[in-house]
Amino acid sequence: MANQIPEEVIEEVRKSNDIVDVIGEYVQLKKQGRNFFGLCPFHGEKTPSFSVSQEKQIFHCFGCGKGGNAITFLMEMESYSFIETIKYLANRSGINLPDIGSERESPLSKENQNILSAYEWLTKLYHHLIRFTKEGKEGLHYLKDRGISEQAIDDFQLGFAPNSKIFTAEFLKQKGFNQALLVQSGLLSLQNDNSVTDRFRGRIIFPIRNHLGKTIAFGGRLISEGEPKYLNSAESELFQKGKVLYNFDLAKKHIRRENEVILFEGYMDVISAYQAGINNVIATLGTALTDYQAKLLNRYVDTVVICYDGDRAGLEATYKAANLLRKVGCQVKISNLRENLDPDSFIKAYGGKAFKKEIIDTSDTYISFYMRYRKKDFNLSLEGDRIQYIEDVIKEISLINSSVEREYYLKDLHKEYNISMESLNEEVEAQRNKQGYYHKKDNTDKNRNTNRAASYRSNHNLLPAYQNAERKLLSYMIQDSFIADKVQEEIGAGFNIDAHKILATHLYAFYEEGHSSDVSLFIEKLEDHDLKKLVTEIAMLPFSDEISDKEINDYIRMIQAQKNDYVNIQSLKEQQRVAEQQKDPIKAAQIAMQIIELKKQIKGTT
Ligand code: CTP
Ligand code: MN
Repeated sequence: MANQIPEEVIEEVRKSNDIVDVIGEYVQLKKQGRNFFGLCPFHGEKTPSFSVSQEKQIFHCFGCGKGGNAITFLMEMESYSFIETIKYLANRSGINLPDIGSERESPLSKENQNILSAYEWLTKLYHHLIRFTKEGKEGLHYLKDRGISEQAIDDFQLGFAPNSKIFTAEFLKQKGFNQALLVQSGLLSLQNDNSVTDRFRGRIIFPIRNHLGKTIAFGGRLISEGEPKYLNSAESELFQKGKVLYNFDLAKKHIRRENEVILFEGYMDVISAYQAGINNVIATLGTALTDYQAKLLNRYVDTVVICYDGDRAGLEATYKAANLLRKVGCQVKISNLRENLDPDSFIKAYGGKAFKKEIIDTSDTYISFYMRYRKKDFNLSLEGDRIQYIEDVIKEISLINSSVEREYYLKDLHKEYNISMESLNEEVEAQRNKQGYYHKKDNTDKNRNTNRAASYRSNHNLLPAYQNAERKLLSYMIQDSFIADKVQEEIGAGFNIDAHKILATHLYAFYEEGHSSDVSLFIEKLEDHDLKKLVTEIAMLPFSDEISDKEINDYIRMIQAQKNDYVNIQSLKEQQRVAEQQKDPIKAAQIAMQIIELKKQIKGTT
């Protein structure tokens, strides 16, 4: 790949960005043994088979086979070009890149780059207006009235779009933007007479940023009564409501630190909480939580606290979001805001500390929420309704695996409805039998980390011994150039598996160029995609620091023996053919027996 960045600089950039940190911005990684594990961001999965090695600075997914170093990870994840990745990483670690010319490689189309640039200009313009000018005064008053601090206005780059028909249109025209493009991106509206007008007028502007912090849309709120209260940018290639979470970029590091995220319904809830010091907060953009967003969250955190408005609509939305999150593997908690309060008004009335303590920290478990939620469908003063309600709740309780937890909720029912624990227990047992629970393995979240790695290892025991020997040996050669030297001397590229031959050849060349052992760099130099995958997979094999000469020699011998066996079988087959040609069936049969015998021996050693 052609690039103008000097090799040493790329090296420096690579060395100053630890792969665990880089990937940690996308995946919640948990240390297990020497490696880190998480949910693979490249394919949907519920049990982590995505592993990252800090020592080796590489990642590998045992599920989908993707692998590489920090650079390839970002290229794949962000569709960055190589140069863009280096720029991003350099920026991340505070390294100054030499000027590499104006040529910009970008995965975005020219149109999309222009739209992003228009959003960037407008974000700054609207923000400037609200902070410093008389055109923005009414917006500023509105926010101040709602208790929003200047700091928060800055943090969220809030702005004000004046109530003028062509303020924005004129501004962007002057900057040379193409009007048709701006209409298409939903920043301007097309009138019946084909003239264009501003889309956002007299509205507080909430820039909606993607996970990299770039504004990709606006939410605009009226500062006086009127409809619609909120207006969002139209959807486009750059902006899909169902794929973005408001404030995700700022909240990310806090979410990871707390291993918990608070999910709100509104922008104002997020801003209120954030300025009150609760930073692990995000919101959907006026639509129901999507499967995409749920999966995204599941890659980052274990626990999602759903904190929607305390009204009827909020309760319904909570139920849906909770089940979606549970389905993808998140733990959910559900805050219990009193009727007709929303998080923003609670925080405004009682402060952030009270919000944290009384609302977030005392959130309900899913079952407690469910008990509360289902009540709305029954008239509990009627006996018939009451029984139905209790049966319904018991069905849900019987799905819980932990008996201690089940007992806990049953006690609640026992106390509240005065039903004996015996009958409640009986009912649960009956339900669980029906659901076939007693034959299922307990597959709780706690042991989900180990499943994949364990099954991966056992799978590989099924490979023939010589193949395992080759993989093992290669893994040592990748970690240690002395071992590679020794193997090169003894068998060169004489591995039995073709891919292993190729790998060994590349590895010898790599060391001959004067590099010392460095898996991440080695991968960097390889061009073939499948080969990169193979290297990360092999480099991830369990590795012991002290390998004896004897072990190495054993591997080498096993590889050579396989080769000899192969040669022997080939030559026997040839002799058999000749015997058949010479019409000597007895000799041919004897040779066939020899072949079978030899094959048996080889199998026996696997
Ligand atoms: N929303 C929207 N369009 C509307 C109303 C709401 O897109 N006409 C979205 C916005 O993202 C808003 C969220 O739904 O933040 C929650 O709506 P609502 O509870 O009505 O707004 P609040 O966040 O309470 O806003 P405010 O406090 O300013 O009334
Ligand atoms: Mn609200």
